[in-house]
Amino acid sequence: MSIPLTDAPVPPLVRRLARGAQVRPIWENKLGGMTFRTDDERFIKVGPVHLETSMADEAERMSWAAPFIRVPTVVEQGDDGDTEWLVTRSITGLSAVHPQWVAQPETAVRAIGEGLRALHERLPVASCPFDWTVPSRISNAAERGVIVPEGLRAAPPIDVLVVCHGDACAPNTLVSEDGRWSGHVDMGQLGLGDRWGDIAVAAMSTGWNYGPGWGGLLLEAYGVEPDEERLAYYRDLWNAT
Ligand SMILES: Nc1ncnc2c1ncn2[C@@H]1O[C@H](COP(=O)(O)OP(=O)(O)O)[C@@H](O)[C@H]1O
Ligand SMILES: [Mg+2]
Repeated sequence: MSIPLTDAPVPPLVRRLARGAQVRPIWENKLGGMTFRTDDERFIKVGPVHLETSMADEAERMSWAAPFIRVPTVVEQGDDGDTEWLVTRSITGLSAVHPQWVAQPETAVRAIGEGLRALHERLPVASCPFDWTVPSRISNAAERGVIVPEGLRAAPPIDVLVVCHGDACAPNTLVSEDGRWSGHVDMGQLGLGDRWGDIAVAAMSTGWNYGPGWGGLLLEAYGVEPDEERLAYYRDLWNAT
């Protein structure tokens, strides 16, 4: 989905947000967004304003989740109408798709599964103001002109309602030196939903990042038996939206 970067030019906006610190590009996403790391322990994410989620949404969700689970602290956030930005404090760990972890897929996949389980257990459903249930995902897609196929409009009954990460792809779990998950990033879509919405995406993304055959370990590390119907449904919904 996204690629680690080594040498890309640093836009003037990022220089400004760096406030004199050195910056290094580390990541580019498929929506034209880029993430930079500063030498004073901040991450600067910039990208075009778009309809799917906003960095204002992300900052709000990170701040909400922060008391319960390790997520970056928001330093500043804004936009100029065309470009939006989010500056956060670094948290420990490397992305689970850093070359170091791609070389150790078993450790990385376990960390992702255990990290997702912890996120689902710790974030409080009762006080979560954000929605990522199927109806809201379908209407968000419609606002972007994406029509979800008829066959995906009715979701299977909710298994366990949790606060979902909303983009539980492998790169969004950070893994520390000891091989355990150390935090989560990229929370623009965090919200209430069936846990399988996240589990299906996490399992699918192991295929993109580590190759075939890791989905079973992901489920084992999360601590759940495969539910083929919900896995297929939420995989298809993800791909359709
Ligand atoms: N505060 C942070 N601390 C540590 N790593 C971070 C932080 N913010 C971003 N990252 C790293 O930058 C990458 C890209 O950030 P992310 O918010 O996931 O951007 P995108 O929306 O483009 O996927 C993450 O996968 C993670 O490795
Ligand atoms: Mg990401």
